[in-house]
Amino acid sequence: MRGSHLAVCVADVATTRPASLAVFYRHNIDYSCNGSLPLNEACALANVSPDALFDEIEKEESNHETTPVNWNSRPLVEVLHHLVTHYHEPERTALHHLVRLTSRVPPTKNDGTTSPVVEKLFHEVRVFADELIRHMAKEEQILFPWIASGRGSQAAAPIAAMLREHRDTVQTLVRMKKLTKHFQPLEDTDPLLTELCTQLAVFDREIREHIHLENNVLFPRALRETN
Ligand SMILES: [Fe+2]
Ligand SMILES: [Fe+2]
Repeated sequence: MRGSHLAVCVADVATTRPASLAVFYRHNIDYSCNGSLPLNEACALANVSPDALFDEIEKEESNHETTPVNWNSRPLVEVLHHLVTHYHEPERTALHHLVRLTSRVPPTKNDGTTSPVVEKLFHEVRVFADELIRHMAKEEQILFPWIASGRGSQAAAPIAAMLREHRDTVQTLVRMKKLTKHFQPLEDTDPLLTELCTQLAVFDREIREHIHLENNVLFPRALRETN
């Protein structure tokens, strides 16, 4: 794809070269919800040249001992199974853990008061977890069975709703990332906050891959084909 990057968008690279996801994430290029952006524009916004980006992707590919799966070449039922077992199930567990962390007594500052930033973060995490758990339930109980039965082309409305919720998810993560200065432990070295920020940073990376697989692989294929 090198040399022809004028014509490609971010999602083209993300779907055909799965090792690129780590590179996009490093450069803060939103390959999950904003994959339709031309690669050149995304690179300009991220202040990286397309050639340098492709160099990094090649390096990332050479670091992989096994070739990552290109999910565009797999049957949709396999993609659906992978989404549930590899993303939904562990993410539900991770979200419950995040909520448990925010249900403990928030750490106080030297003057005995709770930081408004911490209170805001705790609130954001609880709302975020609740919405995301409900989002995944809707996919598993309604949309995924619909797609698995070959009726994905009739699911434009629920898919549009899921796309909107994905955008909300990413926007909330961006807010939390800003609030925590890139998921760095807040205020001091309180172990509760350190754990919360560490887990949020891991979750942020994982959910981008999850959303990418739905937005850029599953939904476009479901809308245009039957199984
Ligand atoms: Fe999902
Ligand atoms: Fe989703």
